[in-house]
Amino acid sequence: AKETRKKGWIQLVRNAACYNPEEYRLTISPEGIIVEAGCANGCFYGLQSALQLISNAGEGGSIPCAVIHDTPRYGWRGMMLDESRHFIGKAEVKKLLDFMALHKLNKFHWHLTDSQGWRVEIRRYPLLTSVGAVGNLTDPNAPAQYYTQAEIAGIVKYAQDRFIEIIPEIDMPGHATSAVKAYPEFSGGGSKQYPDFTFNPGKEGTYTFLTDILKEITNLFPSKYIHIGGDEVHFGNEQWNYLPDVRNIIKSKGLKDLVAVEHYFLNRMSDSIRTLNKTVVGWDEVVTAGLPVSNTVVMWWRQERPEQLGEAISKGYEIVMCPRLPLYFDFVQYPSHKYGRKWSKGEYAPIERVYHFPGTEYTSGISVSTPLIKGIQGNVWTEVIHTPERLQFMVYPRLSALAEAAWTQDSSKNYENFNLRMNRMMNIYNKSGITFFNYKNPDLSPEVAGPGKRKKD
Ligand code: ACM
Repeated sequence: AKETRKKGWIQLVRNAACYNPEEYRLTISPEGIIVEAGCANGCFYGLQSALQLISNAGEGGSIPCAVIHDTPRYGWRGMMLDESRHFIGKAEVKKLLDFMALHKLNKFHWHLTDSQGWRVEIRRYPLLTSVGAVGNLTDPNAPAQYYTQAEIAGIVKYAQDRFIEIIPEIDMPGHATSAVKAYPEFSGGGSKQYPDFTFNPGKEGTYTFLTDILKEITNLFPSKYIHIGGDEVHFGNEQWNYLPDVRNIIKSKGLKDLVAVEHYFLNRMSDSIRTLNKTVVGWDEVVTAGLPVSNTVVMWWRQERPEQLGEAISKGYEIVMCPRLPLYFDFVQYPSHKYGRKWSKGEYAPIERVYHFPGTEYTSGISVSTPLIKGIQGNVWTEVIHTPERLQFMVYPRLSALAEAAWTQDSSKNYENFNLRMNRMMNIYNKSGITFFNYKNPDLSPEVAGPGKRKKD
């Protein structure tokens, strides 16, 4: 048949030789663009690559002829956002999802509950939002801010349209202050510094309450995963020693200490999640809790404890790596920045270190080439982030480096080449109105202030 296509066509072709569902082959020729993939995911990614090139060319511009054949290094390429410490809101979450899609990131881990605010409507327990969503880290009396179930459904759909899975996190048994402010009957107490920090692991009612919540979460989020936190329980569990319900289970279940109580709690909740046909995700504290290997994913976050990563691997858990350094984007990205976090001796999280992750910095004696490592994730905690502009400044350009780290094998990494390509990406940030840190010319992008005071060095 006579060719009737005009110049400038895009053809999408199913190619069964693309075995990985996210793999694609993009061919750009003077006649047009062909995207080949085995699945819709790969096809979407091929189009994103084409879109990046086209966005750069601008009105009347041209794009280079090329063949790009790519397949991701990791299947889990994530970003986490904490909306408890400061609520960022729907418009900005959608913008983040847009940029994740452009960068072919595919998991959005949504930290929806923590001590400073409960941010998701649960119909069975309305006080969680009418009381628990009041306040944030800067202003404990700020009016309630949270997502209704209808809003969540809209964002889940928005993410699905961009091939992004949303993994909700309901943090327990610690980081629970906002929930137990609403329902004090389930409080397990806290410490002087972290009052009412925990749920009460000795009360049957606590398990019913939390399982009811997770049932609604299950109905809202189609992901096969539910994240239940499990981190930093020791910050505020000393009251457990004195609560009659907890003393009773210590005795009746033969638990030897508060860590054993914590593990008992995590196993109970893991059982609940299994009955909901979901898989548990937990922070790396859960490695020692004895949760079933076949139904648990571990997020390794404590970079000062590589042994947690080693233990997770030796026990056979699937793992997502997100060590604070360099993958917590609330850490500063430049030495003179004053508002974000730094580790001891001023250690911070520059873009170059994100690009090279995982490299070899944590891996002595640990095989990070094991297929148990599902992927990597950048985490944005919001103690030091309170506005969309500040969020963007901390996320960009590190998100671009994260995406390359998640897609690229070490043998293909080339930081100089990445730097060159970042000129074009920074163009796209500019055109999209993104407030980013210009790491090549820091004077052009002064630090966007965070909440609270500037830190001294
Ligand atoms: C964490 O940063 N507490 C997981």
